[in-house]
Formats: sequence, C-alpha cells, structure tokens
Amino acid sequence: MKSGHVKIEWVYKFMPILKSIEEEYGPKKPLKGLRIGMSIHLEAKTARLALLLRGLGAEVIVTGSNPLSTQDDVAEALRERGLTVYAKRTEDERVYVENLKKVLMTQPHLILDDGADLTVMAHTEHQEALKNLRGVTEETTTGVRRLRALHRKNLLKVPVIAVNDAFTKHLFDNRYGTGQSTWDGIMRNTNLTIAGKIVVVCGYGWCGKGIAMRARGLGARVIVTEVDPVKALEAVMEGFEVMKISQAAKLGDFFITATGNTRVISEKEFLQMKDGAILANAGHFDVEVDVKALERMCVEKYEARPNVTAYRLADGRTLYLLAQGRLVNLAAADGHPAEIMDLSFAVQTLSLIHLATNELTPGVYAVPSHIDEKIARLKLASMGIEIDTLTEEQKNYLEEY
Ligand code: NAI
Repeated sequence: MKSGHVKIEWVYKFMPILKSIEEEYGPKKPLKGLRIGMSIHLEAKTARLALLLRGLGAEVIVTGSNPLSTQDDVAEALRERGLTVYAKRTEDERVYVENLKKVLMTQPHLILDDGADLTVMAHTEHQEALKNLRGVTEETTTGVRRLRALHRKNLLKVPVIAVNDAFTKHLFDNRYGTGQSTWDGIMRNTNLTIAGKIVVVCGYGWCGKGIAMRARGLGARVIVTEVDPVKALEAVMEGFEVMKISQAAKLGDFFITATGNTRVISEKEFLQMKDGAILANAGHFDVEVDVKALERMCVEKYEARPNVTAYRLADGRTLYLLAQGRLVNLAAADGHPAEIMDLSFAVQTLSLIHLATNELTPGVYAVPSHIDEKIARLKLASMGIEIDTLTEEQKNYLEEY
C-alpha cells in the first residue's frame, strides 16, 4: 500500500466516533446531492473526514487551509479514491490561493472551512461562489472571529456554524490536542530537552492552557503572558508565572505563541532574547511571531535542521524559528492525535448535516447542544466508560426553586 493510504488506514482505527456516525447516517445519505468544498489542513484525519462525507452522499472537493500543512501523499491517496483534490504542500502562497479559487469555482452548496479563507474569499473577490452556497461550518477560533467580524459589517450572506465553539471541540482539540501536538512538533524538530527549561507561552486561551499544562508535565518552568486579566489570573492560580512579554523575552528558552493575534513577539523582544532561543507558533496564522522583523534583523539565515530556520543577528546571537512561524504542530508534525480529531470532525459532520436539513438565515450559530451531548456520549462509549443518569427525583429536585 502507498504511504498516503497507509496513513489513512491508521487513523481509521482510532476514530470510532466517525465510524458510529457512518453506521448511523450512512444508509440515509443526508448529504446526498450536495457539493462540499473543504479547506482544512490536509492530512490523514482530514482525509478520513472527507471520505466519511462522501459516504454520507456528498460530492467532496478538498483543498488545504495552510500552504505548509498539506501532506502530498495523503492528497494523492484521496485522488486515487476518486475525490477532487486541489492541494499541494508549498511555500508559495499564490499556489495556495489558486487552489482555494478552484474549490470556489465548483460552486459548493456547503463549505467546511478552517480559518475562514475560503468563506471570506467567497464573500469578497469571488462572490459568484455564493450562488449555491447554503452554509458554512468553521473549525477554528480565528475563523470564527473573522466570520463574526464579517457578520458585524452586515456582509455575511449565509449561516455559519461555529464548530470551534462546541464544547466537544475546543475543550479537547484546542486544549489537549494543541497541548500535545505542539510539543510533539517542537520536540521532534529540535531534539532538545524540555525539562528544566524556561518556556514562555503567549496567550492563555484554550490552546495556551494546553501548551502550558504539557510544558509543566515535561518539567519546564512555565511563564505565561496575557492581555486578558481574567485569563492571566487563571494562569496565576494554576501556578504559572505571569508577566509582560518584555520581561519574559529575556528569560525564555522556548517561546510559543497561541493568541490568534498579530506581532505578539517582535523586534523589541528579539533584541532581548537569549542566544539560542527557540520560537514556535501554534496560532492559526503566521503573524504571531514577527518573521518579517527577523528577516530584516538577521545578518545570516540558514536551515539549522529540517523545519528549523536559524537567524543570526548582528550581535552574534542566533534565534531559531520553527516551521517558518506557521502552526508548528501541523506544518512540522502530524497535527492533533486521531482520537482528538475524531471529536472535532464528529462536530463538523453533524453540523454539516444540521445545515443540510435546516433552513437558517445568515449569521454565526452555536452548535446545537444535543450534538455536543451526543458526541460526548459516543466518545465515552468508545472508551468503555459508563456514567450515571439523573433519577426522576433528582430531575424534579433540580427543577425546584
Ligand atoms: P482563545 O481566544 O481561547 O485564546 C487566545 C488568548 O490569547 C486569549 O486569552 C487572549 O486574551 C490572548 N491574547 C490575545 N492577544 C495577546 C497578546 N498580544 N499577548 C498575550 N496574549 C494575547 O483562542 P484559542 O482557541 O486558544 O486559539 C488560539 C489560536 O490558535 C487561534 O488562532 C486558533 O485558530 C488557533 N488554533 C490552533 C490549533 C492548532 O492546531 N495549532 C488548534 C486550535 C486553534
């Protein structure tokens, strides 16, 4: 078997919720007659999702959601299984954008987006793609933020389901998924010790919490930087040191951004960092570590190891940037574990079915709570875990004032 197919076979084994959904909905073909344009990090778990959606009756057109996160052997495997795939791992942003356009030209009925590039493009320079469009599901925090911004400007033309905001998505994917896979990406590419090191985590949202928690588990001394006082307080109470990035810059051995914001670490900080500091980003876009500033400031740049760029500064210090500042767990590793994406993609699938079977007006919608509950139950069942149910007496008690 070729490598792409082998990778897909592996994840099939570890995504039992998708299998249950396939068994339950497969015969009914709830997505029949619908074309779904998918823009999402194209690796084996996503391939499993695309094959499931086809199994539910949809025609599926696939592209990536980041130029560096596409795994070409997986893309090829999907082509060989009859899907239309416009995706290639590339450093060329233009190729990435061309592929998004190709998906839009198929005039999909539904869009499954990750980061909102496809949906924003359909609402701006490629509005012809809105012709058949009935709805969008959005995978990540940054995408939901962008689509809410589009809606605030009264520009959103279709209903969007904020998959990211489902409990069975962000509590697990953003926290445990990003927590584990970010460290996988950092460790496999640097082959350095984490124990005893000072790790600076920028942003203590769902991803930052996971990254900080796992850093502590690996024996690091963890510093958190935040702009939100509540999140900062939460980090303090968890036992992390909290300080400004200007202070943390001098101390860190590793810096990891997970804010969804821009230029969180920039020239001022680079000037203060220790020789040998390692920089990585886990946020959606490659704007959190100011790569342009590094390019400007360096006197020499070379590949120190695969996926590690060394920037030697004029004073002789060298800073190392992983995965060109793109999300390290996807651009330089295999993304989240399969069992985590099993949860997220179950939310995606049931949200797409929800869009296909309900008429919604334009707006950004929460995932219906019965979907969250169903997925959590399926996951527990797949783990062989049973939980209690409320007795009639308890239900009545909880209804009383
Ligand atoms: P979140 O909204 O829960 O957390 C972001 C945190 O960053 C907030 O607490 C915010 O106050 C803080 N922040 C904003 N600007 C900051 C600054 N300048 N300095 C310090 N803190 C700052 O978002 P979440 O869910 O943690 O996602 C973060 C990013 O990661 C998003 O871009 C999201 O799309 C992406 N993401 C990446 C994944 C991956 O596989 N690498 C998986 C899931 C999400």
